[in-house]
Amino acid sequence: MRMRKKKHRDERISACSDLLIENPEMLMKDPTFAFSDKSLPLALEIGCGKGNFAVGMAQKRQDINLIAMEKVPDVCCVALEKAMRQKDARPDNLRFVIGNADNLNEWFPEHSVNFLFLNFSDPWPKAGHAKRRLTHLNFLEKYKRIIKPGGTLYFKTDNEGLFNFSLEQFALGGLEVVWTSRDLHRSDRADGNIMTEYEMSFSEKGFPIYMAEVRF
Ligand SMILES: C[S@@+](CC[C@H](N)C(=O)[O-])C[C@H]1O[C@@H](n2cnc3c(N)ncnc32)[C@H](O)[C@@H]1O
Repeated sequence: MRMRKKKHRDERISACSDLLIENPEMLMKDPTFAFSDKSLPLALEIGCGKGNFAVGMAQKRQDINLIAMEKVPDVCCVALEKAMRQKDARPDNLRFVIGNADNLNEWFPEHSVNFLFLNFSDPWPKAGHAKRRLTHLNFLEKYKRIIKPGGTLYFKTDNEGLFNFSLEQFALGGLEVVWTSRDLHRSDRADGNIMTEYEMSFSEKGFPIYMAEVRF
């Protein structure tokens, strides 16, 4: 996601430091160190964008701890401020990391994550950029190391090409696809679906949303 540099960005991010994991290297020792209830299953969202999904999910699922990761600091700043604004309902089970999924295996211990959310990941349509897609086999191998056996990946996209590519990659990675929809908003999972900013924008324009649930 491109975004113009925000004025006073660093000060604004500092003002949200309660919700920010500033040293993700510390997760390797204890991936729950930033949460008050360490007994809850751990969920990770990669590419959280402006944070609508992360905030909604953390509020809805008080029975999980959620780490939302975003590589662009200006974008994460918006997500952090959204979470901070929740006032009375500010989620205690949500923390953010400003960082790149390339580093997952340096930050998360083996088999420490129960749920992974990939929402509207960049499609990288050029064939030469396929390795940058977050569902490329190389990323699936990184996820395999940190997700518990039996853990789940939830993947949503508006992009049919990326969806088809991802299904191929899941098969190549030996992962079990347990549920799919090519029109999530008209499926039996429409109720309870938490929308992301991109999802709202694409569905308003009439595009169907694709979803896959994948077992590790
Ligand atoms: C198309 S946007 C979707 C944002 C949000 N998930 C939504 O649905 O509204 C993709 C986001 O993923 C982030 N992203 C892409 N590759 C990433 C990576 N390797 N690590 C962390 N974030 C990444 C981008 O910066 C961007 O904000």
